[in-house]
Amino acid sequence: MHKQILIATVTKLFENNKGLLAMDESIVTCNKRFAKLGIPQTVEMRRKYRELLITTPGLNESISGAILFDETSRQQKADGTPFIKILIDAGIVPGIKVDIGAKPLAGFPGEKVTEGLDGLRKRLVEYQEMGARFAKWRAVLTIGDGIPSSACIEANAHSLARYAALCQEVGLVPIVEPEVMMLGDHSLAQCRQVTSDVLNHVFAQLHQQKVLLEGIILKPNMVISGSENKKHHSIEEVAEATINCLLESVPANVPGIAFLSGGQSAEEATANLNAMNRLYKSKVPWKLTFSFGRALQQPTLEIWKGDDATVVTAQKALYHRAKCNAAATRGEYDVSMENDSITNH
Ligand code: G3H
Repeated sequence: MHKQILIATVTKLFENNKGLLAMDESIVTCNKRFAKLGIPQTVEMRRKYRELLITTPGLNESISGAILFDETSRQQKADGTPFIKILIDAGIVPGIKVDIGAKPLAGFPGEKVTEGLDGLRKRLVEYQEMGARFAKWRAVLTIGDGIPSSACIEANAHSLARYAALCQEVGLVPIVEPEVMMLGDHSLAQCRQVTSDVLNHVFAQLHQQKVLLEGIILKPNMVISGSENKKHHSIEEVAEATINCLLESVPANVPGIAFLSGGQSAEEATANLNAMNRLYKSKVPWKLTFSFGRALQQPTLEIWKGDDATVVTAQKALYHRAKCNAAATRGEYDVSMENDSITNH
């Protein structure tokens, strides 16, 4: 175990109220998002898009780490500079998604288990040698009629813990991401109950697999009602439910929590993170930051649309979202920041 290295990486990822850019969409997911905007689904367009993201001027003011997908981790800028080198030179820690996706769980219709443990030790060594310093594994749990089952929760918790132990063996900080999906008509209370149950199982498994909690980052969902549920909750209610849920499930020696956005709008995710920090920062043992995918990238992708002429404006949108989220980690975000035109940056 590389205790000091792990702790140093975690410290760097949480320093100066920065957060993480999740840009690790698989080829299939990235292509789906491109297709919705009429962007050609080619290797070159995915490369161009990722180049746009990581070369955004000033990105390192708010972003401490970027999670890459395997394809992206091997790509270069148009001038031949490897993406990983660009990130390192900018002081942004490169990370890598190492699971190979959530697959149907045999015997449990509608439920999934994340795969990728076979051969993982060897892949982690390769990524570490390429320059990655942290990794990500995402489990997905769906709330529905009688689900998630305990079989699904346990299978995913076990895989997350074995992945985390393997990461720490080679000095990579594991981001442990058990995502309770927003999809569905469940209530905020149901989300809280399931999230708490899932996290309790995850931490029991992490303990059993001897994972050093000081050397992980937890990446949970926020506690919110389902996307099909009509009931509106204030950001204060979401913040309170999320923090109370985490307090009853997450040990105090976990250094930090980096939330996923899960399909919330960019502004909603920022406002919720901000409320948690504004109201509870001094009352929780962990740092609270962001590791958003869609909530950081969506405005940028919608501006870019595959057109070279829009790159500068698209980068300004990413810079702006990253800035707003960094403000939210300090509890200093205000919706008026959204009026701060991106063209002013
Ligand atoms: O695994 C999911 C990503 O890391 C976070 O994406 O913020 O769009 O949920 P999201």
